[in-house]
Amino acid sequence: MSACDHCLSRRDFLAAGTAAALTTLLAACGDGATAPATINATVRVSDYPALANVGGMARLSGTSTPVAVVRSATATFRAFSLICPHEAGSVGISGAGFLCSNHGATFNASGTWTGGQRTTNLREFQVVFDATAGTLSISS
Ligand code: FES
Repeated sequence: MSACDHCLSRRDFLAAGTAAALTTLLAACGDGATAPATINATVRVSDYPALANVGGMARLSGTSTPVAVVRSATATFRAFSLICPHEAGSVGISGAGFLCSNHGATFNASGTWTGGQRTTNLREFQVVFDATAGTLSISS
C-alpha cells in the first residue's frame, strides 16, 4: 500500500470534477432554455376587471415574474408564467389564449401548447382563492 492509496489521482480528480460540472450544467439547462421563475404574490381579484367573469384573463402587474391569471370557474383561478417555454420569449394574452411574440407559439387558456413553434405547455403556478377576502395567493 502506498502512502497515497486513499488519494485521488490527478486523472480521477479531473474526471470527478468534469462529471460534477456536467451534472450541474445539465441541471441548470432543464428541458428548455429558461430558468425557473418563482413567484409569491397576493392580488385582489377586484383590481382586475377582466377576472370578474368566468373565462376572463388578465396579466398581473407588479409581480416578480410575468404572470397571467385565468378565471376558469366561479371560484377557480389558474395562473400561468408568461415566459415562453421555448426560448423565454414574452408571452401575451391573445384572444381566448396566449401567443408568444418571438416565434409564434400559441397556448390555450389552460396553458396547453396549441400550435406555432413547437414547445411545452406554459408553466402553471399554484393559486389559492380566498373568496371572503377576494384575493388570490399565487406561488411557484
Ligand atoms: S420563444 Fe416563444 S416561441 Fe420561441
